[in-house]
Amino acid sequence: MTKIIVAATNKGGDGKTKTSILLAEYLTIIKKKRVLAIDLDPQCNFSHKFLDMEIDPVESQGKMPPIHPSYTEEKKINPEWNGRSSIADIFYGESVLPYSTHLNLLDIAPGYAMKLLEAEAVRKSEVRNKVHHQLHLFISDPTLQEAYDIVLIDTAPSKGPLTVSAVKAASHIVIPSQMEQNSIHGIYGMLQLWKQEALQRDKSYPLELIGILPNKIRDVNLHKDLLNELRQAEFIGDYVMEDKLKLRSIYAEFDAEESNSDSIFNLSDKNVAREEAMKVCDFIYKKVFPND
Ligand SMILES: Nc1ncnc2c1ncn2[C@@H]1O[C@H](COP(=O)(O)OP(=O)(O)OP(=O)(O)O)[C@@H](O)[C@H]1O
Ligand SMILES: [Mg+2]
Repeated sequence: MTKIIVAATNKGGDGKTKTSILLAEYLTIIKKKRVLAIDLDPQCNFSHKFLDMEIDPVESQGKMPPIHPSYTEEKKINPEWNGRSSIADIFYGESVLPYSTHLNLLDIAPGYAMKLLEAEAVRKSEVRNKVHHQLHLFISDPTLQEAYDIVLIDTAPSKGPLTVSAVKAASHIVIPSQMEQNSIHGIYGMLQLWKQEALQRDKSYPLELIGILPNKIRDVNLHKDLLNELRQAEFIGDYVMEDKLKLRSIYAEFDAEESNSDSIFNLSDKNVAREEAMKVCDFIYKKVFPND
């Protein structure tokens, strides 16, 4: 069965997208897995790393996917289609046509700001059927299961309907967190969401927490102390990952627009940032594929 990894925290800027990007590159470049990236965040940062997203003229600052390369062909079968395909279409009962990327084994179902925001705002009485279960249905499709080894889902900094939908679809969750007080509060919120969902799950389809990934760690007492406290905290401590990502400008540089097709995994294997990212990804990989 296809593994489904979700990066989630309800605090902004903690590294959900960074983790998703690193995993997308690691799994395809290093592990040669077939990966589908899904961007459920209306900010569309994950999409932007792998696709030239466009500004939506209808939603100021909102991003939308570019015209799909197979638009001309597809239009013959489906003349109604406007040529853009995003993961948000699953909330409108429409099909999704993933885009290929510069990485051979990586496809992406990008975000679409306006449509994701609309889905996030669905009325409470309808949210279960229209949003919560849609992603699981989409990923359970046998054609999709056949086409990909792994689905990676990046989420918005919220515990709203879209994140719930991702958690319900997931087989594995990773929670990146900075060692700052607000971020640590956020971890508890996500753990609650994980526990609630895990308890409801059928035994044949468990939801595993990969761990809490300490991110943007600096060599200062505040970070060391908070990390030590977290490692010792009841319940939470066991989930804190041994490896961490330090705050390194090279990580941010690789996320910048102009570095679209660069990957940290193409650097020399002596590079410290690459080595650090590799350790984190190796750990996650072992959790997801314990028998490989
Ligand atoms: N370890 C790191 N070192 C340096 N910069 C980092 C690191 N991790 C993330 N960043 C940068 O910090 C910013 C926020 O990270 P990222 O986008 O991954 O967070 P996020 O949780 O996805 O945020 P949001 O909640 O807004 O979606 C980005 O510009 C990213 O490049
Ligand atoms: Mg993000």
